[in-house]
Amino acid sequence: MPRAIISPSVLASDFGQLTAECKRMMKDGAEWLHMDVMDGHFVPNITMGAPILTSVHKAIPDIFMDCHMMVANPIQWVDDIADAGGALYCFHIEATSDPLSVIKKIRTRNMQVGVAISPDTPSTAITDEVAEAADMLLVMTVHPGRGGQKFIERCVPKVAELRARFPEKNIEVDGGVGPKTIDVCAEAGSNVIVAGTAIFGAQDAAEVIKQLKATVMTAQAKFAAKA
Ligand code: DX5
Ligand code: ZN
Repeated sequence: MPRAIISPSVLASDFGQLTAECKRMMKDGAEWLHMDVMDGHFVPNITMGAPILTSVHKAIPDIFMDCHMMVANPIQWVDDIADAGGALYCFHIEATSDPLSVIKKIRTRNMQVGVAISPDTPSTAITDEVAEAADMLLVMTVHPGRGGQKFIERCVPKVAELRARFPEKNIEVDGGVGPKTIDVCAEAGSNVIVAGTAIFGAQDAAEVIKQLKATVMTAQAKFAAKA
């Protein structure tokens, strides 16, 4: 199974100190930083776009920006995000009728590919062909649009279903994930953990990152023992 990765969502950070917040997370053990891009169409909110990512990348050239694109027209932003230094471009399957063309475009720009599903979208919306062409599958555990929402537990079986179909893919969970909700996610087979409020809101972010990662690794050891 792919390794455990913690990706703090900067949506919960102090945007006025964004680069300092990203550096702090990397120092505290985060390998990826989760950048929530919203366009006011796919979701009602607007957050940040390519110009901000460009600045962050300029300040921290070795950052891995895990870009979660909550946008109505995913193919439109591929070039901008690639130029801004995005490492992974994760788009929503609900936002396109032609996911393979979006994936092809992302590949031409040498970014990793992620495919996301919202809480009301079944895991079967990600076909074998689409999943095989992607590096990561994202199961949202809140409705996309804002941070600090309550974890929706009924989404967890989708993680298990995707893990059974795709043992080697990265499977990310995002929304309401923290020390209280990580267990079910890790046991279902998620290995990439996004957490905003739970990490940025903590007294000791390094400790939370360590704990989330350890929980995933323990679950993985159990999977390995069973196999
Ligand atoms: C929601 C975003 C999430 C969000 C997670 O639309 O995709 O990444 O920032 O924040 P928490 O962990 O606070 O639920
Ligand atoms: Zn997100």
